[in-house]
Amino acid sequence: MLVLGIETSCDETSAAVVENKVWVRSNIVLTQTKLHEPFGGIVPEIASRKQMEFIAPVVQQALSDAGVTWQDLNAVAVTNRPGLIGSLVVGVSFAKAVALAHNLPLIPVNHLEGHVFSVFLKEQGEGRGTRDAEKANGNRKEWGFPFLCLLVSGGHTELIWVRDVGDYEVLGRTRDDAAGEAFDKVARALGLGFPGGPAIDKASEGGDPNAIAFPRADLTPSLDFSFAGLKTAVVRYLKGLEERLKRKPNPTVADIAASFQEAVVDMLLTNLERAAELTDAERVAIVGGVAANRRLRQKLLSLAEKRGWQLALPELKWCTDNAAMIACAASFRMEKGLAQPNLLFDAYAVAEINDAHP
Ligand code: KG4
Ligand code: ZN
Repeated sequence: MLVLGIETSCDETSAAVVENKVWVRSNIVLTQTKLHEPFGGIVPEIASRKQMEFIAPVVQQALSDAGVTWQDLNAVAVTNRPGLIGSLVVGVSFAKAVALAHNLPLIPVNHLEGHVFSVFLKEQGEGRGTRDAEKANGNRKEWGFPFLCLLVSGGHTELIWVRDVGDYEVLGRTRDDAAGEAFDKVARALGLGFPGGPAIDKASEGGDPNAIAFPRADLTPSLDFSFAGLKTAVVRYLKGLEERLKRKPNPTVADIAASFQEAVVDMLLTNLERAAELTDAERVAIVGGVAANRRLRQKLLSLAEKRGWQLALPELKWCTDNAAMIACAASFRMEKGLAQPNLLFDAYAVAEINDAHP
């Protein structure tokens, strides 16, 4: 089974061909980061116009890299929610047109479900998508259900108990900012530029993660998260920085970045550990753009080893937005008879993982 995936929910234009649910034959990701950088954040109108410009060549490249033609495909899958509406509409309209032209079933996919399924992706000759974790703890077992998934992206921070395809229980979610959003806002306050996550990750190198005791929100007994207080604490700290810099020892940007990052990582892992206890999880996965964070990966690896979890720590390219995960999620749904191919569906800016497929 060959599925073409199309992902245009934000500022990445991506297309991928995935074979038999998990095997990535090609995955093209064209990112617009450089175009939005001067504005310090994503400008929705620029994002959608660029999606329109890039979508056709990106899809063509994905087919040619995979060595397939339209006739070889079994279905087309496209992200239709959640995301920037102008960007989503480009991918959805394009997908409808090609599905109609080539008489292929078209499957709308929830972007969050796509991220969850990124843990299954594999590449021929390169081992599994979960390779980093396998290398670290010698774990070579096949991935499967159920698993506990920490989804941390620019728009979402959720702990999801994934019982099976289409059977998700959200155990906790952020009550304010998403983890990625906190990284982006704090990076801006530190003058580190956009996107903030990779900038803080880099700036924290050599910094002392215990230099500044930033607050960790504790919302027990719930498994929810909150990052707004931490962000405010960093901004307040920076306001008093001039005075502090006159004293010794001086905090460096690396210390501030590392201390903020440590607070985010601690909050994420504390709730992940509690959720694992609650569900008796044996498999634990982390997905979404923030899963690319090196400190988070490092601490999660040791936590998984300590707790004996089978860990899925997708390679960096599967953490950030990509179309392979969209094709993968659609393929699992098709196999279970849970996909409803059609040409009538809409695109939605806001959606939860459990929102029914239209
Ligand atoms: O999943 P994603 O690519 O897009 C969304 O669906 O939101 O996530 C993007 C987010 C951004 O907020 C970015 O700053 C963050 O992921 N991010 C990181 C790192 N790389 C990307 N955050 C922390 N450390 C990183 N290395
Ligand atoms: Zn995403």
